[in-house]
Amino acid sequence: MSEVLYRKYRPKNFNELVGQDQVKEILNKSFEKGSVSHAYIFSGSRGTGKTTSARIFAKMLNCLSESSEKPCGICQSCLAIDTSSHLDVIELDAASYRGIDEIRKIRDSAAYRPIMGRYKIYIIDEFHMLTREAFNALLKTLEEPPERVVFVLATTNIEKVPETILSRCQIFTFKTLSEEEIVLYLERIATSESFSFSKDALTRIARAARGGMRDAVNLMERVVAFTGSLDDQSVRLTLGILPDEVISSFLAAFSGVDPNRLLKVSKDILDEGLSYESLLEQSIDFLKEGYVKNMMRGNLQMISSLWEILKEMKYAEDKKAVFEVMTILKSFELTGLKEITGEILEKSDHEGTAVAKKDTQVKVEVLPRSTGGENVSRGPAEILLDHLYEKDFTLLWVLLGLSRITLSEDGESLSVDSDDGFVAKLIEEKLDMINGISTEIVGKPVSISRNKSPKALESLDKDQRAYVKNFMDVLGLSGNGALGEFKIEIEED
Ligand SMILES: Nc1ncnc2c1ncn2[C@@H]1O[C@H](COP(=O)(O)OP(=O)(O)O)[C@@H](O)[C@H]1O
Ligand SMILES: [Mg+2]
Ligand SMILES: [Zn+2]
Repeated sequence: MSEVLYRKYRPKNFNELVGQDQVKEILNKSFEKGSVSHAYIFSGSRGTGKTTSARIFAKMLNCLSESSEKPCGICQSCLAIDTSSHLDVIELDAASYRGIDEIRKIRDSAAYRPIMGRYKIYIIDEFHMLTREAFNALLKTLEEPPERVVFVLATTNIEKVPETILSRCQIFTFKTLSEEEIVLYLERIATSESFSFSKDALTRIARAARGGMRDAVNLMERVVAFTGSLDDQSVRLTLGILPDEVISSFLAAFSGVDPNRLLKVSKDILDEGLSYESLLEQSIDFLKEGYVKNMMRGNLQMISSLWEILKEMKYAEDKKAVFEVMTILKSFELTGLKEITGEILEKSDHEGTAVAKKDTQVKVEVLPRSTGGENVSRGPAEILLDHLYEKDFTLLWVLLGLSRITLSEDGESLSVDSDDGFVAKLIEEKLDMINGISTEIVGKPVSISRNKSPKALESLDKDQRAYVKNFMDVLGLSGNGALGEFKIEIEED
């Protein structure tokens, strides 16, 4: 492969550009009506089509074809823009050239008439990174734009752009692409490159790319380069995605409080050269999906526990020991809830039954712990939770999800009542952040009310405690005696 795929398949016109319907429609219309602005901002995360759209628009503006179908894609101007050699279409990467000099150059050259085409078009990438002087110089140019000059300013961080600039530009927001949109595009490329592929594989790649088209294409290219094929197995291998069986086996052991099986999973992970962190991350993703589909509150409890373990793992030197101890401890905490009602469905147990036939074999459900559940406000609290989920504030989302949120009596704030020790503590730590978001989204801050209830571990029965204690001893880990507050100290060698 001589040319990287994402460049080779950069859409050459708006028909080829996937999604971004609103952007395409408005740009098309303003072009047809001849009402072209002097400055556009293309805002959106990376790999969603900003640069591509800027070039397409530049081609439309400067296309030399007589026909009304623009860009024609074959005239001298279109070809020059496709190869970045058009004298009137200038691209600047503000991430590398941040200073005033670059902008001065632009200002000076913008004063001259276009050479090859009708318009001079300046495409400035990541323009939020310009220095302050550079911004001011740019602003001056935007205040008195020369005739026939169009600025397209692209950014992944529009919140860093001063209001003075925003107010002078027409702003377009590029959306992250959906899984379906990405799969569609990957399919096109794979077909044209004669890769044999499975749809599962492409879907998995699309998911891993999290809405960015360039990442998706690059991933696909990596998979092919690495394994020579494009099936589910090769994608997993390249991305370090664990087999579903490992995830379901782990979750079954964890929610079923089965220490022996947890140790077995740990051994398998180690033997197969897989990563504990990946296991935890992918288990969290799995539960998160289940929560969104079925609103299984118990999943939140598990997510929260797994997240705690993951956090612990990041700094651990002896990952194996920490993984084993933490998963066993945290799984005992789950039974502290004593209300596990769910079933664990596994492929091996339920082969061929309707519920278990897909790759989602594990279904875990834990009922809400308290009877206060019906007080949960479905108004502002729900809006806040939705927002946290959508914006991927996973931790905050889990923390609030595990608590009771109600509108305070005076209606001035949301009151968060958490009776779980570590949840309450984490909420307190994150309160500023929660408050900021909450105030912005639902217009109310959050206040904490503490409900003193015993730590989850203290609710273990005698046998369970003895087991945990034994286990700690075997591993040579010292607890401080009180089961509720184990400190895990691993000796350095
Ligand atoms: N909406 C899209 N439709 C089709 N391909 C896209 C889209 N967005 C990005 N791409 C692919 O990703 C590559 C990079 O896109 P680009 O426009 O440079 O992204 P951005 O400037 O937003 O970071 C393109 O060459 C193309 O292969
Ligand atoms: Mg770009
Ligand atoms: Zn043309």
